[in-house]
Amino acid sequence: MHFSRFGRKFQTSSGILQLMDDLGNALASDERMLMLGGGNPSHIPKVQALYRRRMKRILKHKGAFERMIGNYQSPQGEKEFVQALAALLRSQFGWEVGPENIVLTNGSQTAFFILFNLFAGLDDRGVNKKILFPLAPEYIGYSDIGLEKNFASAIRPQIEFLDQNFFKYHIDFKALSITEEIGAICVSRPTNPTGNVLTDSEIERLVSLAKKHELPLIIDSAYGTPFPNIIYTEANPVFNQHTVVCMSLSKLGLPATRTGVVIANEELIRIISSANAVLSLSPSSVGAALALDLIKSGEIIKIGADLIRPFYRKKAGRAVRQLQKELRGVDFLIHKPEGAFFLWLWFRNLPVTSQMLYQRLKQRGVLVVSGHYFFPGLTEPWPHQHECIRVTYAQDERIVKAGLSIIAEEVKKAFHA
Ligand SMILES: Cc1ncc(COP(=O)(O)O)c(C=O)c1O
Repeated sequence: MHFSRFGRKFQTSSGILQLMDDLGNALASDERMLMLGGGNPSHIPKVQALYRRRMKRILKHKGAFERMIGNYQSPQGEKEFVQALAALLRSQFGWEVGPENIVLTNGSQTAFFILFNLFAGLDDRGVNKKILFPLAPEYIGYSDIGLEKNFASAIRPQIEFLDQNFFKYHIDFKALSITEEIGAICVSRPTNPTGNVLTDSEIERLVSLAKKHELPLIIDSAYGTPFPNIIYTEANPVFNQHTVVCMSLSKLGLPATRTGVVIANEELIRIISSANAVLSLSPSSVGAALALDLIKSGEIIKIGADLIRPFYRKKAGRAVRQLQKELRGVDFLIHKPEGAFFLWLWFRNLPVTSQMLYQRLKQRGVLVVSGHYFFPGLTEPWPHQHECIRVTYAQDERIVKAGLSIIAEEVKKAFHA
């Protein structure tokens, strides 16, 4: 078969494919793989019980189930959900939004595919536009999304060393130059893979830059505010005419329903709706149906604060304490966990690459993600990219504990070989 350039893009392996393959295989099989790799959220019993109750109500209510499975929605997504979400955002956060500012997508990953290709690639003046990621490392799922090669641009972060094996990346605002090549700026907040949470003032500085250069600032809030709010620091939700806020129901416990949400100006919402129609006719309505009551009542905000955030925070603390104990004596650092559900581990001067460490761990039945995938747009070589791994602590305690012990053993072996 002879493929187009578009086809050839998917012939080669990508980081996100490896990650999702590992994740799907580990969760679907009985093999005893310890899945500390992909971004599957925890099964939080109290949260799952809410969705079960809602599903029971849908099943009981005559016609509701049939409508949920039997109708295509408009390309903008389930209307009642969109209206209820706009009302919630207006009343709780004072955002100036109506239903015309919201569109649903089949998972926020699809939203990023659409958004990045709307703002990156050849424009009609012949400029090859790029998405700027001001804080590397960034989400692995952005890496292979651009239809044009070299659609991403990034700079190295500043590194702050903290007590107790912690460190933290900061945006190097001095090194951030916004040339005419840049078509949009994008950050995940909290950052996947590091759990960094950009402060309100950092976001303000990015908004000012976006305003000055008339660019959209895309804020990926998959783990962030207003929900599910898996944030352990102070961070306020931000929306204004310069931002495009992307949210998702996945980390609220509904990844299988594939529900992403984009909040932006009307023009962009119309374009994304049109892309939805072309790519998939309309977004799935199952997630919207399951979460509708929670949005209408505003309970969705409370679920994040009362059930989801404390659940992950406790797990983060446990994982950190275990690593600090089991890696005592090893030169290792953990990015300060400020949100999401990952630990980003940095092994300075690791004698093997992080990809080799990934392979060794996989042989021992533990899945992690090699750090080198998380630097979309960073073109200069930097050994640091090969000294880090991302581990998730979202799985059951038994799995996380056993997985972390094996990681500690393999890292020690690598340093002492
Ligand atoms: C930072 C970030 N953004 C976006 C996504 C995409 O999520 P979904 O397509 O499930 O909404 C993920 C998934 O893990 C993520 O970690």
